[in-house]
Amino acid sequence: MSDEQVSTATNPKVLVVYYSFTQQNRKVADVVADRLRERGCKVTTAAIEFTDKRYIERFAVFPLKHRIFDIVRMLPAQLRRATGEIRIPEEAQRGGYDLVCVGSATWWLTTCMPIRSFLKADSTKALLSSTPFGAYVVCRRYWKSNLKSVRRMGAKQGGVWVDGIHFKALGGQIRSLLSLISYLGTGENRSHYLGVPIPKPNLTDDYADKSKAFADQLADRAGATKAA
Ligand SMILES: Cc1cc2nc3c(=O)[nH]c(=O)nc-3n(C[C@H](O)[C@H](O)[C@H](O)COP(=O)(O)O)c2cc1C
Repeated sequence: MSDEQVSTATNPKVLVVYYSFTQQNRKVADVVADRLRERGCKVTTAAIEFTDKRYIERFAVFPLKHRIFDIVRMLPAQLRRATGEIRIPEEAQRGGYDLVCVGSATWWLTTCMPIRSFLKADSTKALLSSTPFGAYVVCRRYWKSNLKSVRRMGAKQGGVWVDGIHFKALGGQIRSLLSLISYLGTGENRSHYLGVPIPKPNLTDDYADKSKAFADQLADRAGATKAA
């Protein structure tokens, strides 16, 4: 085996690409990327930007100005599985990676518009063609349909599915929803919303451990050196 082959096998090139409005996907991406680097991978991270003129005003600022209205206004487009304008960093528009990891948030039960748009973009064919890819979903509760769609869209662009993971927030149906609405409108972890006690929103405390374990699976699949 030549030196070049050895280096490719032990220092795989990995891309972690995600969209994040409230920075939960970014937090997972950072832990996954750091762990992959510890495993000797050459990691590039790329954040998709949501630039669509119809929605940009709403999603340019966090917390949301009109939380319920802003969330509900995404419903028709999400139900239609619509795509919109995004900016894809140049590093996520070309191939050459040994593995790609996609981070997707759930919006209205399915893949958020920015990631759907990315997965359907022409340039994603070059990125994913015959390339192993995995995905993680960050959501309040609903991850299955999102992960399934990411897997299906990625495979349609030539990607070879590896594995997926999901992160969901604390609380049951009602309280987790109140907690999310409270957070989207304030950007703070409050103890009550409309007088009702609510759990902490977003990622749970074990997210870093789960992210590292997932990164290890990806690193193994990409042929990285074994963990120390
Ligand atoms: C417009 C909108 C719609 C959402 N719809 C859902 C949903 O249907 N199911 C769910 O579990 N979470 C839903 N969420 C919650 C997000 O998945 C959650 O806030 C996640 O942390 C977003 O990732 P981010 O922080 O990286 O942007 C929604 C959030 C937004 C902003």
